[in-house]
Amino acid sequence: SPETTGLLKRPRKCDRKGLLFYCELSTLPKLPGFTFQGLEFPSFDGKDRVLHINERNYKKALKRFDMLCLLYHEPQPAHKGRQKQLQMTELVLELTAQVLEDKDIGFGMVDSQKDAKVAKKLGLEEEGSLYIFKDDRVIEFDGEFSADTLVEFLLDVLEDPVELISNPMELRAFERMEEDIRLIGYFKGEDSYYKAFQEASERFQPYIKFFATFDKTAKHLSLKMNEVNFYEPFMEEPAILPGRQLSEMEIVEFVHQHKRATLRKLRAEDMFETWEDNLDGIHIVAFAEEEDPDGYEFLEILKDVARDNTNNPELSIVWIDPDDFPLLTTYWEKTFKVNLFKPQIGVVNVTDADSVWLDMSNDEDLPTAEELEDWIEDVLSGKVNTEDDDDVKDDYDGVDREDRHQSDDHDDHDDDYDDHDDSD
Ligand SMILES: *[C@@H]1O[C@H](CO)[C@@H](O)[C@H](O)[C@H]1NC(C)=O
Repeated sequence: SPETTGLLKRPRKCDRKGLLFYCELSTLPKLPGFTFQGLEFPSFDGKDRVLHINERNYKKALKRFDMLCLLYHEPQPAHKGRQKQLQMTELVLELTAQVLEDKDIGFGMVDSQKDAKVAKKLGLEEEGSLYIFKDDRVIEFDGEFSADTLVEFLLDVLEDPVELISNPMELRAFERMEEDIRLIGYFKGEDSYYKAFQEASERFQPYIKFFATFDKTAKHLSLKMNEVNFYEPFMEEPAILPGRQLSEMEIVEFVHQHKRATLRKLRAEDMFETWEDNLDGIHIVAFAEEEDPDGYEFLEILKDVARDNTNNPELSIVWIDPDDFPLLTTYWEKTFKVNLFKPQIGVVNVTDADSVWLDMSNDEDLPTAEELEDWIEDVLSGKVNTEDDDDVKDDYDGVDREDRHQSDDHDDHDDDYDDHDDSD
């Protein structure tokens, strides 16, 4: 089961304009009683809100709240460190419960050993997962277990699963959401074939976004009546389910068929699920910071490659923006022996984290789309793989790689920086 990572991490996007001040404040030590009016980060107030769920209270808890979130966890460990870890996990849940106190959401812990019977009744299976019971659905949260990710996720689950679009502004917002999987349907109104679309949406909320329109906004998207379009992340052209009476199952099937994107961004809210959905034991991983000029360029090339190969079911590239995962960056640099100040693309074996990376160290320029496509072809055919170098690597590991890493850090990054200064 997934390791929980990152407790109460600092706000993402703190380098965006306007949020700089906010970011600086959050890095100040949080002394007791230390507050800024108008910007007050919550700290745990000591009140227990998380229930310990057992056979006697689980039915009542299910009835009492609009939504019930249950953390299915390992039994109380003997090891001190792991005990602390479990306490911290509970604290994340307490803080989440505190922040969302005004919403009708219940929180509870279920011990996989002591409460095994309840767990079985509720269908809890994966230790370390959070299960959300809403109406008669269960949603599994398989993301980063931090209070800010969790709060954002739960607020999304509280909303209607379908968002209606009825004006040009909303349409523009829809068109700009290129990182997300989105569906949009055009229907007569609430009482129409829309109902099946709405029911289908509930099965994917909040991971896949559903939109609908009942008016002429549909013309701008060339939607016909009762037609449903599926937008893969970063693609300009949708996949189309033609306009006729569609059943819930047809829509669900269609989503399952298309939902593994050719290029998908790793997101805190479903990072473990994405990682589990690998390509026969490997992932093609691209690291690129969107806000860095080189990273941005590389990403544009990657999008071109993805658009050209969107019909290849074998291909899925996981894009990671290191800015989104500050707590993991040094771990990745160590594990994969790459410099994440620069864009990188490689193959990672998800069993042992062994990896190989496309050599971009000596080139002034980033690879072209063609070069990238050739390399990807070599990966998919098995010519480039993580296994071939294994015997050699055991002998050479250590010093050699450390050196290379360090020189990357200093020389290349500085050079890149100068280049961009000149062009301004
Ligand atoms: C991944 O690593 C494991 C363990 O070293 C190995 O058995 C497996 O063959 C590797 N998979 C691929 C696809 O290279």
